[in-house]
Amino acid sequence: MDIKHFVSIKLESPNPEDILLSEILASRLSLSPPSFSDDNTPFKFIFHESRLQLHDNSAETQSKGLFVDFLAGASFYRFKTEKSIHHPLAKAVGIKKGVRPSICDATAGFGADSFVLAYLGCNVTMVERSPLIWALLDDGIRRALSNPDIETIFRSLVSLHLAESMIFFKNTSNRFQTIYLDPMYPHRKKSALNKMRMRLLRSVVGDDEDSARLLTAARNHALQRVVVKRPAGAPSIGQEKPSYAAEGKHSRYDVYLTNHL
Ligand SMILES: C[S@@+](CC[C@H](N)C(=O)[O-])C[C@H]1O[C@@H](n2cnc3c(N)ncnc32)[C@H](O)[C@@H]1O
Repeated sequence: MDIKHFVSIKLESPNPEDILLSEILASRLSLSPPSFSDDNTPFKFIFHESRLQLHDNSAETQSKGLFVDFLAGASFYRFKTEKSIHHPLAKAVGIKKGVRPSICDATAGFGADSFVLAYLGCNVTMVERSPLIWALLDDGIRRALSNPDIETIFRSLVSLHLAESMIFFKNTSNRFQTIYLDPMYPHRKKSALNKMRMRLLRSVVGDDEDSARLLTAARNHALQRVVVKRPAGAPSIGQEKPSYAAEGKHSRYDVYLTNHL
């Protein structure tokens, strides 16, 4: 589907910075020029006080929208609770004392997992195929780069690509010790805020029904391992069993060791 039928950019105020950021985004995603009127698209982007937000035009109540903020909300909560080399996520990707694998987060989403892994010292290449989610993530990184507490992490360790990961693996000359996957999975019981974020994310990206193919492509590309995040108790992706699993409180990390070294 042409992204122009899916999302438009609305100007909310005459704030010059918001207008400039809107125009840059329109040009990067080849969208129609931003306007003050509503377009007939299911989603709209709004820059509010220099922060990009995605709104669902069909939602009964106009919520504050979806955005990425590494120092508040869901990403920050994940960061605070998971930034230890002893956390199951860190152990699953191969982090240990003195060892920091290079990682491709091939389902980048809102970047919360990538943020934790980069904070722990890994080089993280993020890949996201949804232009809408990519734009939110790119904007979150832009704002992180002007925050002295986390600027260095993003400047030195993180890169972001708008791409389908299966195609990205074919085209890149980079190999990664670990490829990390966290495709969408069935609903979980969570807080109302998280439900709103997940509902909106799901209505934008769908159910990632091709995740078994992504796992196969990742296993062919990763040098050491592929890690797949699943809800506790959920079945593994694909036909083959993982080499082992690291259990977290709410999630399980299925680890597939490869022998491409
Ligand atoms: C559940 S979210 C990931 C959340 C992320 N781990 C975080 O910490 O915020 C899944 C994301 O992966 C993306 N995705 C799924 N399959 C992909 C693929 N083959 N290539 C690139 N992105 C993909 C989806 O568009 C969606 O944004």
